[in-house]
This record gives sequence, structure tokens and C-alpha cells, in this order.
Amino acid sequence: MPPGCVAWWLLLPLAVFSLATATDLQPNVTGDVTLTTAGSPWVVKNTVYVEETGSLTVEPGVTVLMASGASLLVYGQLVADGTESDHIQFTLLDSRNKTEGLQPDPLPVDCLQLPHWGVIALLNVTMTHRINYVDISCGGQDASDARSTEYNGAALYATSNVFAMSNVVVSQSAQNGIELVHVMSSLSVINVTVNDNHETGLKIVYEPQTSVIANVHAARK
Ligand SMILES: *[C@@H]1O[C@H](CO)[C@@H](O)[C@H](O)[C@H]1NC(C)=O
Ligand SMILES: *[C@@H]1O[C@H](CO)[C@@H](O)[C@H](O)[C@H]1NC(C)=O
Ligand SMILES: *[C@@H]1O[C@H](CO)[C@@H](O)[C@H](O)[C@H]1NC(C)=O
Ligand SMILES: *[C@@H]1O[C@H](CO)[C@@H](O)[C@H](O)[C@H]1NC(C)=O
Repeated sequence: MPPGCVAWWLLLPLAVFSLATATDLQPNVTGDVTLTTAGSPWVVKNTVYVEETGSLTVEPGVTVLMASGASLLVYGQLVADGTESDHIQFTLLDSRNKTEGLQPDPLPVDCLQLPHWGVIALLNVTMTHRINYVDISCGGQDASDARSTEYNGAALYATSNVFAMSNVVVSQSAQNGIELVHVMSSLSVINVTVNDNHETGLKIVYEPQTSVIANVHAARK
């Protein structure tokens, strides 16, 4: 067999796998941006800012892989509306053992020994978000924000006039699981599970005028 044939056979697997690459999310989201199922898994290599004018929609069934230390800082709106059969997953991008062009593996298993990703921070107090059937794991590393606010130590952080989430699981955070701060008028937390977070599973720092907190499960924080 001539050497050319050997080279061709070696290249074939790369060509096949490159069809399944992940998609990088742009660093600054303005306008309406959708993370589609077709583009999944989506990769956040560095911190992404959803600007005041931005709305980030995550389709059901999408996996978002967050690199160590990376955060999603939402000054606009987040719509993460999964379904019972197609959850949305935010987890750690396992950067070990990766070959360029191959699909990165999510790391749903034990990540406590690895450097975690930062925070999904919902920072616009007047915005209404949708967070339903979302599984969040391996976040909670201290995050820093080029716009000078710092909120450290939770995988999901929200400050809002009105905040609602349901059917959410937050696990294996480096520090707190969920931190809800200064939710002023209405808070709804329904069917939320926190487990195996290093510090507090669900922390609510303010008494809203109206709140519904139902079916919250905590196993080992
Ligand atoms: C994205 O937002 C960050 C934080 O405000 C800013 O430092 C950076 O310049 C922005 N990048 C672009 C391309 O707009
Ligand atoms: C919140 O979102 C609204 C609507 O897009 C925007 O006008 C406002 O500037 C945002 N506020 C903050 C503090 O980001
Ligand atoms: C890389 O993969 C090999 C084989 O699967 C495994 O033994 C090794 O522990 C992995 N290395 C890292 C840093 O994950
Ligand atoms: C509660 O949330 C979990 C996790 O998202 C989900 O699998 C389950 O179906 C939900 N239970 C109910 C009764 O909605």
C-alpha cells in the first residue's frame, strides 16, 4: 500500500468527528440570541456578558459547558425554559484530555476536585427571567465582573424585584448553590433541589413581600 493511503485512513476519523463540534458563545450578547439544540453543546470559554439590551434564550435539551472560572453575567434577560423530558444543563467544561475539534464532554459526575466555573448572575432588578427544568452543577467559584460589582460564592445568583424558578437542581457548587438577594416584591421557588454544595444550598437574603417556596429538597446542602 502506498504511504498516501495510510495518511488518508488516519484522517478519516477526524473528518467524521469534526461534524460534532461544540459552539462557542460570543462574549457580549446584545439583542436576542438563542442557544439552539442543534448547536449544543454550547461552550463558555470566558465570561459572557448579556448586555442590558440583550436576551439570551436557551432551548430545551441544550447543554452549556462552562470553562473553569467563566461566568454568565446577565444585565438583560435569561430565558432558560426546559421541559420535563428535555432539561437544560449548565456544567463544567472538562478541559482535560481534549483534542481540538472533538466534542467536549460534559462532566456530570463528581467534579469537586476540579476548578469550578463561576456564576450565572441575574443582575437586572426589573427584568423577568424564566428558569424551569434547569440542572446546574460544578459552579460557584469566585467570579469577577469587569463592571466592578462582585458577587462571590454561588452557582446561581439573582437580585430582582420579581423572581421565579421551578424544577431546578443545583449540585456540587464550590461554595453556595443558589443565592437570592434583595428580591423585593415577589419570589417563587418551586420544586428546587440542592445537593452536595460545599456551603449553603439555598440562601435567601431578604424577605420579599410575597413568596411561595414549595417542594425544596436539600441533600447534604
Ligand atoms: C464586553 O463587555 C465587557 C464588560 O463590560 C467589556 O469590558 C468588553 O469591552 C465588551 N466587549 C465587547 C466586544 O463589547
Ligand atoms: C434592565 O433591563 C431594561 C430593559 O432592557 C434596561 O432598560 C435597563 O437598562 C436594565 N437595567 C440594568 C440596571 O441593567
Ligand atoms: C485522560 O484520559 C486517560 C484515559 O481515559 C485517563 O486515564 C486520565 O486520567 C485522563 N487524564 C485526565 C487529566 O483526566
Ligand atoms: C421536580 O424537578 C425535577 C428536576 O427538574 C424533575 O425531574 C421533576 O419532574 C419535578 N417534579 C415535579 C413534580 O414537577
